[in-house]
Amino acid sequence: MAKHAARPTTQLDLSDAGLWHQAVPAEEFTRLRKEAPVAWNERHDGHKGFWAVTRYDDIVTVSRDTETFSSRNGVISLDDFDDAQNDARRTLLEMDPPQHTKMRSITWAGFSPRAIAQLETSVRARAAGLLDAVVGAGPFEAVSQLTKQLPIYTLCGLLGVPEERREDMIRWSDLLIGSDDPDFVDPSFAHYPEAQRRLLPFGHPASLDAFELGREVAADRRKNPREDVITALVQGTVDGRPLTDDEFCNYFLMLVVAGNETTRHTLSHGLKALADHPDEWARFRTGGLDAKTAASEIIRWASPVHFVRRIATRDTELNGAQIAQGDKVAIYFASGNRDETQFDDPHRFIIDREKNPHMAFGKGGPHFCLGNAVAQLQIRVMLEELAKRVRSVELVRAPDRLRSNHINGVKSMQIALHPA
Ligand code: HEM
Repeated sequence: MAKHAARPTTQLDLSDAGLWHQAVPAEEFTRLRKEAPVAWNERHDGHKGFWAVTRYDDIVTVSRDTETFSSRNGVISLDDFDDAQNDARRTLLEMDPPQHTKMRSITWAGFSPRAIAQLETSVRARAAGLLDAVVGAGPFEAVSQLTKQLPIYTLCGLLGVPEERREDMIRWSDLLIGSDDPDFVDPSFAHYPEAQRRLLPFGHPASLDAFELGREVAADRRKNPREDVITALVQGTVDGRPLTDDEFCNYFLMLVVAGNETTRHTLSHGLKALADHPDEWARFRTGGLDAKTAASEIIRWASPVHFVRRIATRDTELNGAQIAQGDKVAIYFASGNRDETQFDDPHRFIIDREKNPHMAFGKGGPHFCLGNAVAQLQIRVMLEELAKRVRSVELVRAPDRLRSNHINGVKSMQIALHPA
């Protein structure tokens, strides 16, 4: 009790989705990194509090040490889950080695640099087509017409899902990720029995519709194997056996959500950054700057995943804080990506930032984003195609942000792309 009385605390409740609605609480993170790098965040809604880890080096420590900081308990949420919920909702994200390593290796080849390089031609053609429809055409809503579209087309190609199902995939992941946002409240949700809902991924019945699509495509790939990720999932084995239906469905759903939300929001934040920093865009366009470097700065700037959560498997100490077995520990990439010890002038958008060891895809641990190469490809290609066509990006109406404590999301944003 005494040690808890003295523990450093957050001043704001980082679990409150409303806190993030207008902006990332950057000032609180700056204070925490300086004064309380591992701070206790009390909750007042029935869930237990958690530790907020905000310094870059400590985030790497937690990511690496999977024995002390386990992923087996609700990685993408700050809420408390019981064992039945954890087991029913488990995906690759909520596994530790060695089980995690086995599951991840099933799809690894589909995300390898070689596989992703093969996507470049189709991603470029799609980005060019999307841009040609909106450049010089006056103000338009960038999320629905541009930033939502490229990732979902890319994901359909990668997974092997028919493109005509892409609007369904967008709708499901919006519902699953946006459950704290009144704009995404699903009327069917309230009628679904609570006892069953709590065992569903994201606690949401939309996951069942996504499962159906996954099963449909899997049935086809069993008969007609192709070079895609769903074929890898239906042919893959763990400990000599194929995936169970639950394992397959959860894996599929996780890919649908992880592959489209994050990249979409990064592209939206990126366009806003180009509008807010016209000089940086001019330097990029006219100076022949490296698009891969620029894409990395956009990804750091956007940091679409605020945190992931671990659970302490034993009593331990982290940067002076006494963490007890069973405590939840949230590592904030949103803060690590602004850490003054790692980034010069971290609050500035520098399109050719030289030293940029950003942690938007995670850092140092086995869960490092499986889709990082495909995300980087899309952002780089979009920048290159934009540079060929666009002199300036104008923000016509500020982003309408997602109300979420986990995803740095943009629901809509009016922009104009002025031709070169
Ligand atoms: C800019 C875009 C993206 C960002 C910022 C991002 C970020 C992340 C983060 C932070 C993690 C967890 C890392 C950790 O716990 O250490 C993660 C994991 C993952 N991401 Fe991404 N992601 C992006 C795009 C994608 C795409 C396009 C895909 C798939 C097509 C994808 C698939 C995954 C998967 C499967 C995992 C789980 C890996 C594991 O647990 O082993 N991501 N991502």
